[in-house]
Amino acid sequence: MEIQIQAIDRIQEAAKEFIQAMGDNTVFALYGKMGAGKTTFIKAVCEVLGVSDVITSPTFAIVNEYRSDETGELIYHFDFYRIKKLEEVYDMGYEDYFYSGALCFIEWPELVEELLPGNVVKVTIEEQEDGSRLIQFDNE
Ligand SMILES: Nc1ncnc2c1ncn2[C@@H]1O[C@H](COP(=O)(O)OP(=O)(O)O)[C@@H](O)[C@H]1O
Ligand SMILES: [Mg+2]
Repeated sequence: MEIQIQAIDRIQEAAKEFIQAMGDNTVFALYGKMGAGKTTFIKAVCEVLGVSDVITSPTFAIVNEYRSDETGELIYHFDFYRIKKLEEVYDMGYEDYFYSGALCFIEWPELVEELLPGNVVKVTIEEQEDGSRLIQFDNE
């Protein structure tokens, strides 16, 4: 499936489209270059899902936890950019998150590729020449 974000002021509708396509999947790995818009898109998805916290990429921790005010459900947002060894990921108890059934959005999944669950949905986000973003994923 492909979703185009034409411009930043259209990101909410793109997020809604994405949410409709998520199905029963819970773990989403976002692949894309620095600056592609991973954090911004995850933020938009969380906002549409009813999270009112300030959403930024986890800077001091590997994971940020948000709660939807609408459903009460937890959402986890990972950024593995700064990890140096997989041991750090084992130590933070990644399995408790990935297999919790809660929604998980992962930035820089390529750094923990071997730890991703079998049912992970791999999402790519790419900046196009006109500045729009193209999101692609296979939501079986
Ligand atoms: N859909 C978009 N359209 C236009 N600009 C965007 C979009 N998504 C992100 N940006 C801009 O690109 C920059 C990087 O976004 P960010 O989400 O931090 O990227 P990443 O997490 O992939 O490194 C930010 O300045 C942001 O405002
Ligand atoms: Mg980011």
